Amino acid sequence: MIHAPATPMEWPLPRTCPMSQPPALAEYRDGPPREVRLPDGRDAWLITRHADVRQALADPRLSVDDQHPNWPNRLLFPVPARAVSFWRMDPPEHDVYRRMVAPEFTARRTRILRPLIESVADELLDEMTGRTGPVDLHSASSLPLPCIVIARMFGVPDEDMNEFKANTSAILNQAEPEKAIEAFIATTEYLARLAEVRAGEPRDDLLSRLTVDYVRTGRLSGEDLVALVRLMLIAGHETTANQIALGIFTLLDRPDVLAELRADPGLLPNVVDELLRYWSIAQDNVVRVAAGELTIGGTRIADGDAVIISVPGANHDETVFAAAADFDIHRDNSHHLAFGHGTHFCPGGPLARMELEVAISAVFRRLPGLRLAVPSEEVPVSTDTLVYGLKSLPVVW
Ligand code: HEM
Repeated sequence: MIHAPATPMEWPLPRTCPMSQPPALAEYRDGPPREVRLPDGRDAWLITRHADVRQALADPRLSVDDQHPNWPNRLLFPVPARAVSFWRMDPPEHDVYRRMVAPEFTARRTRILRPLIESVADELLDEMTGRTGPVDLHSASSLPLPCIVIARMFGVPDEDMNEFKANTSAILNQAEPEKAIEAFIATTEYLARLAEVRAGEPRDDLLSRLTVDYVRTGRLSGEDLVALVRLMLIAGHETTANQIALGIFTLLDRPDVLAELRADPGLLPNVVDELLRYWSIAQDNVVRVAAGELTIGGTRIADGDAVIISVPGANHDETVFAAAADFDIHRDNSHHLAFGHGTHFCPGGPLARMELEVAISAVFRRLPGLRLAVPSEEVPVSTDTLVYGLKSLPVVW
């Protein structure tokens, strides 16, 4: 048996290959939960085994209060209270806000969105194929697609779409933090203005529904409305965009899997779930702080201790996923935790799955000769961002 190192390792755990999980993750998984050292020098428990991760995600004693002095903040700057709405609220307050948007993410409503997602995917590919390669498929297609879909759900009008897209891309550009903050403020102000417009003249969109049902009835303040829709944008854009890019990259890198998928398109849902498990893009950024004493995997966690819940740890646990480091579209993926579990389980899962299915199908149907423009090991990866993903995806066709 390999044992976890005696002194806490630095978190995030280092990767030796940018496209593989950190090797120390397996060492940590081999024993009871141990501590890691945060960038600010404090320690936090790292939960890595599948059973422990499930237990931690479902335990009400693990709080998401990001204003707690011991909150394990990887960003190294304080996050304002209520900035991301119910993601950082504990029940019962969490449930009140989550219920307001839950009807927007039902299987039925997601199905209704399919034609919209298909037309956005097609428009983006029309634009992209008008250029001569090599082209960065990430910035041309996988990055804008989920942004446009969310913007349309909100009710952003066509004439504002380009500015909305530009600002949301700038928010994600961590190489230019000042511009990212400016764009974050601009998007917040824009959403507040749009909510006011919709309050005067409601339409069939998410902002109008929230305004009519909750703001007008005094159950939601204007500020909390903006935080609520901003959460959808933050949680649903970068995640889905990176997962789409990684999906297309994986299939370009694995022609055997792509050939199998072309021969049997019914395999697509399995492919999507294996992509979600394999890449586990939430990295180990699912964090909590203990609001009471508890025991996980035999380790006692004291009130106020910081806890990091590793989604890749769980999704690469060999006791649940044999040969977990292999990309295998035929494995049983019903227990992967890529969308979390428990109170904060991702409400956007059905939408993300559909966007992935549509984006992957559209690309390979429209561009049968699509291939990477550089060797796969030269495709640039972002490993140190909150969401794992690709910096770009250079392709030719
Ligand atoms: C591949 C795409 C996605 C992945 C991998 C993903 C993953 C996750 C994970 C792991 C969590 C749990 C976080 C925690 O427990 O702290 C979460 C929560 C959340 N996600 Fe997603 N997500 C994706 C797409 C989306 C989309 C498309 C939306 C909506 C437009 C969305 C909205 C949310 C929200 C609002 C939460 C907070 C839920 C709560 O606190 O109750 N996500 N997501």
